[in-house]
Amino acid sequence: MAAEAQQLTVPTEAELLQGQADLWRHSLYYMTSMAFQCAVKLGVPTTIHSLGGAASLPDLVVALSLPPAKLPYLCRIMRLLATSGVFAADNATDVVTYRLTPLSWLLLDGVAVEGHPSQSSLVLAATSRNCLEAAMGLSDWFKKDVAASPFEDLHGVTLFDGSMAEQDPEIDAVFNDALASHDNSGFLTVLRECGTIFQGLESLTDCCGGDGTTARAIVETFPQIKCTVLDLPRVIDNVQADGVVNYVAGDMFKSVPPAHAVLIKLVLHHWSDEDCVKILAQCKKAIPSREEGGKVMVIDIVVDSSSGPTHEAELLMDVAMMVMTNGRQRDETDWSEIFTKAGFNDYKLVKKLGARGVFEVYP
Ligand SMILES: C[S@@+](CC[C@H](N)C(=O)[O-])C[C@H]1O[C@@H](n2cnc3c(N)ncnc32)[C@H](O)[C@@H]1O
Repeated sequence: MAAEAQQLTVPTEAELLQGQADLWRHSLYYMTSMAFQCAVKLGVPTTIHSLGGAASLPDLVVALSLPPAKLPYLCRIMRLLATSGVFAADNATDVVTYRLTPLSWLLLDGVAVEGHPSQSSLVLAATSRNCLEAAMGLSDWFKKDVAASPFEDLHGVTLFDGSMAEQDPEIDAVFNDALASHDNSGFLTVLRECGTIFQGLESLTDCCGGDGTTARAIVETFPQIKCTVLDLPRVIDNVQADGVVNYVAGDMFKSVPPAHAVLIKLVLHHWSDEDCVKILAQCKKAIPSREEGGKVMVIDIVVDSSSGPTHEAELLMDVAMMVMTNGRQRDETDWSEIFTKAGFNDYKLVKKLGARGVFEVYP
């Protein structure tokens, strides 16, 4: 049946002018990403930090060893980045000074701030040619009937399975650094804010635990927990045994080492719903009954219904997953459906920390 005809209201002149400004913003947002990448590559955050936390443009030009003629250009980049919240600009005197914001505190080379390792490599990976080219292919990808992500369709390799390392070891290293810094960021906050979920556990398997950074942090806070890290052979074979954590090479689709609880942190958003159900079903096989304290702890992004910058970040991360993997970001209802399909009876969203949620999922 034809939809009821609606009276079309043409926007006003003022609305169209605003629309035009919004159109420029949306078409040119990548300039913000590129200016951001430029500041990271030049080392601007670390330089501001080393200059005492505030720096004028002439100070920055000298400290960064840039040609003096580039000062007016740096001024334009910094003005845009200050407007976007990457830096703060102090305009109180004739000479503008730039300071770090919480965001740029996360970009200090080699400095972990409150347990957040430097996220510079994440910026470099996310703004890499490999990701941008995959994103530029989205419209072509939509017209093709392919199961591969735009990234895999274009580059012929996938993240995390070693194929990228074979094709381009340099960018693979950038991606691995990015992943490690992203995934290890904020875990101390989880231990502080949600420590009760680890209390009373005798053993825990960190499924896809990489080099064991998370497991070691758990053992440091809860020495009574016997931690095992499961990851692919190519990862585990390169880990030095440390006597703190037990490392097991394997495939989570086949089996997960048994433990009182399984932790699966920032893994499932890389996988399709069908794969998540298969992975969680293996996690369930690894734990005892709920009465015996068995549980799976899922830490992952939970899209909420609020508006604002965190919600926008969750949606951008969702489209990033679509471009680069077969995964997606999920809201609480999506998570609940996946838990049920994997055979779990109940779950609790223990806490939302920024964009991340900490779930306990019970057999
Ligand atoms: C996003 S990272 C996980 C991050 C980690 N949980 C953390 O929070 O630090 C993905 C990890 O999954 C591992 N992985 C991928 N497929 C796997 C599989 N089938 N079995 C076990 N590990 C796998 C990768 O080697 C990589 O270390």
